[in-house]
Formats: sequence, C-alpha cells, structure tokens
Amino acid sequence: MPKVTVEGMGSFEVTPGKRLLSALLENGVDMLHRCGGNAKCTTCRVSFLRGEPTMRTEAELQRLTDKQEDLGLRLSCQISCEADMELRTLLRFSESGLDDPGPEPLPTIQPEPVWIKRE
Ligand code: FES
Repeated sequence: MPKVTVEGMGSFEVTPGKRLLSALLENGVDMLHRCGGNAKCTTCRVSFLRGEPTMRTEAELQRLTDKQEDLGLRLSCQISCEADMELRTLLRFSESGLDDPGPEPLPTIQPEPVWIKRE
C-alpha cells in the first residue's frame, strides 16, 4: 500500500490508485478544493518533497501556469496514489478564512483523465 506523508501531519497508507485529494481529506488534512476536484481552481495544490508522480493529467497541465510548474506545484485532485510520496500542503481550509472548503469531490479523478508522462 502506498504511504502518503504530509509534512507536519504524519503518514497514512492508502489503497493503490486512490485519488490524492480524497486520501488527504479522508485522513484529516483539510485541503481546499474550491472547484470540487475538477482541475479548475488550483486551491488543492501541493508540492512534493519525495516521490512526485511522473504521470500528469492533461487537465492539470492545462491548468497550472508555467510559474506554478517551475515551483514544482501539483494539483492533488489530479494525482493517483501509486507509490510512496511525501508532500507539503499549501492551502488549508482552516487557514483560509473561507466559509467552506469546496464541494465534495468525486472519488475518481475528474475530468476523465488523459495521462501524459512528464519527467
Ligand atoms: S480542487 Fe480545484 S483544481 Fe483541484
């Protein structure tokens, strides 16, 4: 089972193929997800310390700006947990001052993923 480690929050195991955003939410990491996990808002972004997946969805590539990509940011709603990973969260609901974190995301990656390998 892949192990997800969140800086400052600890580790948990997830079912292989689990959507990273869902894994974080189910394990008490109060990620923002203002578009409901549809690759439209970028509030679910994370940065990887280790184990960054090389596969990206076309939707993620279209949404992130060049600057965000240069900074190594990724959208947790567009990542499938296939191996151990260590990451840092960037926008948490409890620190946002917003009234709600966003609509409940579906358990599967949306929109239907078109996978692109990017080293
Ligand atoms: S939740 Fe909006 S881009 Fe991921």
